[in-house]
Amino acid sequence: AADTMQVAAVLVALALALAVPSSSAERKCILTGTWVNDFGSNMTINAVNDKGEFSGTYNTSVADNPNDIRGSPLQGFQHSREQPTFGFTVKWNFSESTSVFVGQCFVDKHGQETLKTVWLMRLRVNNIHDNWQATRIGTNTFTRVKG
Ligand SMILES: *[C@@H]1O[C@H](CO)[C@@H](O)[C@H](O)[C@H]1NC(C)=O
Ligand SMILES: *[C@@H]1O[C@H](CO)[C@@H](O)[C@H](O)[C@H]1NC(C)=O
Ligand SMILES: *[C@@H]1O[C@H](CO)[C@@H](O)[C@H](O)[C@H]1NC(C)=O
Repeated sequence: AADTMQVAAVLVALALALAVPSSSAERKCILTGTWVNDFGSNMTINAVNDKGEFSGTYNTSVADNPNDIRGSPLQGFQHSREQPTFGFTVKWNFSESTSVFVGQCFVDKHGQETLKTVWLMRLRVNNIHDNWQATRIGTNTFTRVKG
């Protein structure tokens, strides 16, 4: 009887293991929606089409001249596999600068999505001799704004 109980317990454990939802690595992430980063900047990404193309609006919370800040258009691509990589360009509406972001969407076992990104920002300089100082680099982590 004890053996039967053990077999039954193993079968129950096996059934539970099989019933567990797909592991985090199998969850998809579609970027559509609103995201906020560690600086308090946010972005809204519109529908991603079947080629992985998307557009949106980036509202930065940091700038050299904060009073000038305005929403700025972004345009990018994402892959469609689970935990996809992506990239997008922001054409700043209030300066002559341009930024590009690349990153990956990670999804944990609770379905919490995190975008880990690296960005380059190109500032406009008046002549080629100032080129050396015209690019900035940084990192940002975004999470989804719910609701
Ligand atoms: C988005 O960012 C802008 C600019 O910093 C800010 O004014 C706005 O309140 C933010 N919105 C949300 C939902 O965080
Ligand atoms: C950026 O500026 C242009 C021209 O002023 C405006 O038409 C556009 O709506 C702005 N983009 C965003 C995302 O606010
Ligand atoms: C970003 O700014 C635009 C105005 O430029 C505003 O309509 C939009 O609601 C803002 N997005 C967020 C998430 O606050």
